[in-house]
Amino acid sequence: MCGIVGYIGMRDVKEVVLEGLRKLEYRGYDSAGIAAIEGGKLKVVKAVGRLVNLEDKLRQQPIQGHVGIGHTRWATHGRPSDDNAHPHQDCSGRFAVIHNGIVENYLSLREELIAKGHQFKSETDTEVVAHLIEDLYNGDFFQTMVAVGRRIRGAYALVVMSQNDPDTLIAMRKASPLIVGLGDGENFVASDIPAILQYTRDVYILDDGEMAVVTKTRVEFYTLAGEPVDKETLRVTWDAIAAERGGYDHFMLKEIHEQPKAIRDTLTGRLTPDLNRVVLSELHWQPGFLEGLDRIHIVACGTAWHAGLVGKAIIEHFAKIPVEVDVASEYRYRDPLQTDHTLVLVISQSGETADTLAALRLAKHRGRRVLAITNVLGSSVAREADDVVVTWAGPEIAVASTKAYTTQLVALYLFAIYLAQEKVLLDPQEESRLLHALYALPQAAESVLDSAPQIQQFAEQYAKVHDTFFIGRGLDFAVALEGSLKLKEISYIHAEAYAAGEMKHGTLALITEGVPVIALTTQTALYDKTVSNIKEVKARDAFVLGITWAGDEVLKKSVDQVLYLPVTDPLLAPVVTVIPLQLLAYYAAVARGNDVDKPRNLAKSVTVE
Ligand code: AGP
Repeated sequence: MCGIVGYIGMRDVKEVVLEGLRKLEYRGYDSAGIAAIEGGKLKVVKAVGRLVNLEDKLRQQPIQGHVGIGHTRWATHGRPSDDNAHPHQDCSGRFAVIHNGIVENYLSLREELIAKGHQFKSETDTEVVAHLIEDLYNGDFFQTMVAVGRRIRGAYALVVMSQNDPDTLIAMRKASPLIVGLGDGENFVASDIPAILQYTRDVYILDDGEMAVVTKTRVEFYTLAGEPVDKETLRVTWDAIAAERGGYDHFMLKEIHEQPKAIRDTLTGRLTPDLNRVVLSELHWQPGFLEGLDRIHIVACGTAWHAGLVGKAIIEHFAKIPVEVDVASEYRYRDPLQTDHTLVLVISQSGETADTLAALRLAKHRGRRVLAITNVLGSSVAREADDVVVTWAGPEIAVASTKAYTTQLVALYLFAIYLAQEKVLLDPQEESRLLHALYALPQAAESVLDSAPQIQQFAEQYAKVHDTFFIGRGLDFAVALEGSLKLKEISYIHAEAYAAGEMKHGTLALITEGVPVIALTTQTALYDKTVSNIKEVKARDAFVLGITWAGDEVLKKSVDQVLYLPVTDPLLAPVVTVIPLQLLAYYAAVARGNDVDKPRNLAKSVTVE
């Protein structure tokens, strides 16, 4: 996610844009930039790092004007740098573009434009749009943008300005959010409402496939094909803080609900259009490396470690490569047995966790090749790993990790299936079936989120308890660990995850009347065994919430409450099973009046050992 702001009116555009970007920094902050027309010339100033670096640069290179665009970046293509920061310009410098999303066909467009003599300055997908505008420009800014819309594929929110048309901004939306704010003698464009709330509460929400032509006195809407569209304004009643959370009460709830999009974005560009093969262009392995791979060590902390446990199961299942999983703080001191054919896979949302970073450096020191799965392209982990698979979840603000976990799982599924595909271990039909199921996960996640009100009711029961158990077998046990951590870290209720078959070896002694047990039963092959473990705790009068697939008519006879999940492949179950557990933890914490986004004693990124 990136932050986008555009302004046209009578105010100092620099102030309006910078203020708007400050309100959007939660959407991404590895670089920022501004473009404005001053004295008839288009000027651009950009700076890597936080927004303050841009503000410092603008003190040396001031920009005056009343029309302009600004951008705070969350890198997806091209590391954070001055050149990769937005706005991007064409060769002539007459056009400036800011963008949120992914131009899927940027490589082919880039080749086509280079062949026509265009010179690129950045590694980004966005810059192709600026050169495409220049290439297609026929004197009519609007018609040119219609032509550009026909050529670019992917998800985008674009705002473009032109030195030839200093009284106009053009905004285009396809899958990434974009709004237009209506002022008096001035108008605004932004990726999100907080950026403009101090100037106006009257906004238009661009729908997918729409574009807006914005001057200081007029806003017109069209389809991307150039057909006029009538739109209604929306009166925003949120306060500024609520607006940053998109109207949600907490960032955590917003990020739980962003998971369908985050999963979709993480899949984007990594499945062939026919959904028959995985494409992981981020891996730059030497010929023979994969064939010689004898072991994978997954290293991570907390929620990322829980994702690693799922990673172990699915990589071994699909790729038949032995996998070990360590918490980073242990890995560093156990002198792991490795060879030159061992791959170390580190998982880290922030890419700055001290223990994980130290483990990465130890692996590199021992000559291992390191693959990172991270959510922050410019992070230390991303910079120091040999290969990086980015989760495109966008900034995760809440301390409790949610969308990062599910997108880490998606990245691990893609990696596991990629390994099996390259080792020719998957028959084409099986691979296609799996990839179709993977592609359907955003929809499955969406329908799980529809059960939020029911989960909130369950959660309010848990708000009063002191101890809770999560049980499951196989992949369900890995997810039970994550559910237990979620509940602990934000509701402060003691919770423990247990392999369901292991309860009778001691912990069953803690089960007495009314003790809540959450039982996960998505692993069909282990269903009967898990149900008998449920009966063990029920025999001690536990209060059991069972989580199973829709259509299961059996489980309800053995538990006190049931939550049904949309049916998906049991191998992919963790991505959907975790969502009710995230919501359960969230609503229990809310019911207990806790600071959900900033729980006591914890930090979003543990950069100390
Ligand atoms: C997750 O809810 C926790 N806040 C925490 O365990 C976190 O997953 C862990 O600190 C690892 O962080 P990272 O993914 O940024 O490395």
